Amino acid sequence: MAKALRAVILAAGKGKRMKSTRPKVLHDVLGEAILSRVIGAVNAVGAQKVHIVVGHESPQVEEHLHARHSGEQWQTHLQEPQLGTGHALMQVVDDLKDFSGDLLVTVGDAPLLSPSTLTRLIERHEKDKAVVTVLSADVPDAKNYGRVIRDQAGSVLGIVEDKDASDEQRRVKEINTAIYCFKWPDIKPGLASLKNDNKQGEYYLPDLVAWAVQNGLPISACKAADYREVAGINSRLELAEAIHSLRDLTIERLALENGVTVIDPQSTWIAPEVVIGQDTTVLPGCHIMGPVKIGSNCIIGPNAIIKGAVSIGDHCTVVLSMVVDSSIESQCRVGPFAHIREGNIVRAGARIGNFVELKKSTVGKHSNVSHLSYVGDTTIGDNANIGAGTITANYDHITKKKEQTVIGDGASTGSNSVLVAPVTIGKEAVVGAGSVITKDVPEGALAVGRARQENKDGWAENRKRRNGKVK
Ligand code: UD1
Ligand code: CA
Repeated sequence: MAKALRAVILAAGKGKRMKSTRPKVLHDVLGEAILSRVIGAVNAVGAQKVHIVVGHESPQVEEHLHARHSGEQWQTHLQEPQLGTGHALMQVVDDLKDFSGDLLVTVGDAPLLSPSTLTRLIERHEKDKAVVTVLSADVPDAKNYGRVIRDQAGSVLGIVEDKDASDEQRRVKEINTAIYCFKWPDIKPGLASLKNDNKQGEYYLPDLVAWAVQNGLPISACKAADYREVAGINSRLELAEAIHSLRDLTIERLALENGVTVIDPQSTWIAPEVVIGQDTTVLPGCHIMGPVKIGSNCIIGPNAIIKGAVSIGDHCTVVLSMVVDSSIESQCRVGPFAHIREGNIVRAGARIGNFVELKKSTVGKHSNVSHLSYVGDTTIGDNANIGAGTITANYDHITKKKEQTVIGDGASTGSNSVLVAPVTIGKEAVVGAGSVITKDVPEGALAVGRARQENKDGWAENRKRRNGKVK
């Protein structure tokens, strides 16, 4: 059986370099808060409980946790005042009384951390029977990071913070990611012995490494394969860099592992949780965020925004359109300029054309809503044709209620018709162009709800005569 595993996320810091009223860990990285991405990674490796140290703007962080992570196993610990990363971990000690096992500790500002890297860290820790295992990384620019100091034989001696480092130590390119696996409770005495006699006057968690070395306890280190994954975010520029890195890593994976063509990675933003099938092409200017699933052989974009719980089947096209929290089955064509809002089902082979807005509606198989329509709270059957400019008037401004429209299989509505809900258009029924429909239309009937046309013969000639233009 795998060892007991818990995680601690240090998220109490002010993040003052962000210059924000929002806590740093709540800033967004491709559709998810920094902290949520870290929680996702530790959950994915099977942490039985996640301890989150909060402090700066903690009510905002708590609110986010309740909204986004309800039902998950987490607990917060208030660190007030914030006296450093070592002091942050001290706040969790009381709640680890009954725990013995692997304690994964990570900073809250490294959102690209992958479960596979964490798994490697834990495996190394267990294999080496270490008390402290540090995840390090070789970086091109080690600025501001703690450096991993090794002896000539390559054994880790400790970690020196940038501010406390000598010029020689600053030249080291191997950094501390501040992600560790500890053996609990073995490190507890080390935590209690931490001192704050350094440039920042803080209790440094990385000092546990030197403590273990001095006490002859086994330590280990494991290098992250890709430094982009473990970079901490301390400023808005680093936030932008992290978002770029996550985008790049995601597109690399989609291209190499899933056979997806992304024509212009620089203008394409795809979150890591997005799943895209083989031989789908993503054209420039797309933003695809959230638990989106796109099938194979689709053409997405240019300029599509696809967000939230969206599923798109195989062989679909989505051009210059926005799709949110909706399901689109195979062989559908969407756009250009469609707005598919929340809660829609677009069945196989349907067509949603330009300047069409859909909300909480179902469009049946092979039905068309091709031009200039608003379709809300509506169920459209199969093979129906919704004419240009058809509007479902679903909202009663007085009662403030939304009402339903039902359109049967094979029905059609003429151009510029208004269907005042609640109303049902029967199967195969036809609504004449320009109609305002306020009563149900029986199956197979024609409904015309407009003033009858009257032609006045010779009217133009008569007018000219009245105006004296014709003698
Ligand atoms: C830290 C490490 C450094 C490492 C780098 C990697 C220390 C002393 N330094 O530096 O070795 O290279 O991360 O990104 O650990 N936090 C608290 N309470 C506090 C202070 C911080 O919870 O009192 C949290 C912050 O919210 C943040 C994390 O700990 O999520 C790291 O703090 P930060 O100030 O960003 O540390 P760095 O200077 O980046
Ligand atoms: Ca940091």
